Amino acid sequence: MRKKMTVVGAGNVGASLAQRLAEMELGDVVLVDIPQTEGMPAGKALDLMESSPIYGYDSKIVGTTSYEPSKNSDVVVITAGVPRKPGMSRDDLLNINAGIVQNVTQEIVKYSPNSILIIVSNPLDAMCQVALKTSKFPKNRVIGMAGALDSARMRFFIAEALNVSAENVHAMVLGGHGDTMVPMPRFSTVAGIPVSEFIPKEKLDAIIQRTRDGGAEIVKLLKTGSAYYAPSASAAEMVEAILKDKHKIIPCAAYLQGEYGIEGVFVGVPVKLGSGGIEEIISLELNHEEKAALQKSASAVKDLASALK
Ligand code: APR
Repeated sequence: MRKKMTVVGAGNVGASLAQRLAEMELGDVVLVDIPQTEGMPAGKALDLMESSPIYGYDSKIVGTTSYEPSKNSDVVVITAGVPRKPGMSRDDLLNINAGIVQNVTQEIVKYSPNSILIIVSNPLDAMCQVALKTSKFPKNRVIGMAGALDSARMRFFIAEALNVSAENVHAMVLGGHGDTMVPMPRFSTVAGIPVSEFIPKEKLDAIIQRTRDGGAEIVKLLKTGSAYYAPSASAAEMVEAILKDKHKIIPCAAYLQGEYGIEGVFVGVPVKLGSGGIEEIISLELNHEEKAALQKSASAVKDLASALK
């Protein structure tokens, strides 16, 4: 039996993700958007199907504005949301997207009660909280896509600085998906060798800052909208790890209950992803400075989540 994936939100991130999932032949894909978008999801799905003879995939992609076709999905990725508009405060955006994620989650629970949820909508950590609370799923089945993306950005910046293959570079970014995220140079390597052996501190600090500003750098260049190629690639990596039961360690937003001394909030930590979703939260031995930065990031996430109505 083929696996089934649903992507909610057929915008930039959602449609690119549907493309990646189909090209990776992970299973069949259902792309869902709101009724006001009418034929848009169906049009994107058909367009993608028409590229299947060229790419050689047999995944079926269906675009729809109803949840019925999403029934019994194994994995559901939520990318639905609205971007921040001029005059809108962070809290306004928070509560609008929280309403959207809440509605979407209710529908998903109705049709795919055994699915694993991956949240992409921003503000990420707070949206994970909404999805967990609304779905009442066990915490291992609600996972936020943040660390995979932030780490990929850091990996690229390191690879670019050293002119080495991006595949050689591993990096670890923990904490909330925002200004307080915590890039971890001590757990970042080039072909297994600590990155500090290759890059002097000052240059590494600049890479860390660029990683923190990674999303904003793209927004500034695009002017209309935010990043979607790397976000969709990161979500696809997580879906693949789950559907192929890879037991792959990827930094993800996970609901912490005492791990790293953090309680009752979604924060980015390294987790092992497999068929059950989060199979294990990996506990790293952090130094004083890293611990303080992670605590600070968790507090920022808590503050934001407390503005949820
Ligand atoms: N149900 C389903 N889809 C919805 C809903 C809803 N209730 N509300 C909005 N959408 C859809 C929109 O119609 C749109 O097609 O979500 C889609 C969002 O697409 P874009 O505006 O292109 O945004 P995108 O760049 O894909 O980002 C989506 O991911 O990275 C995050 O910050 C980003 O929160 C944002 C999300």
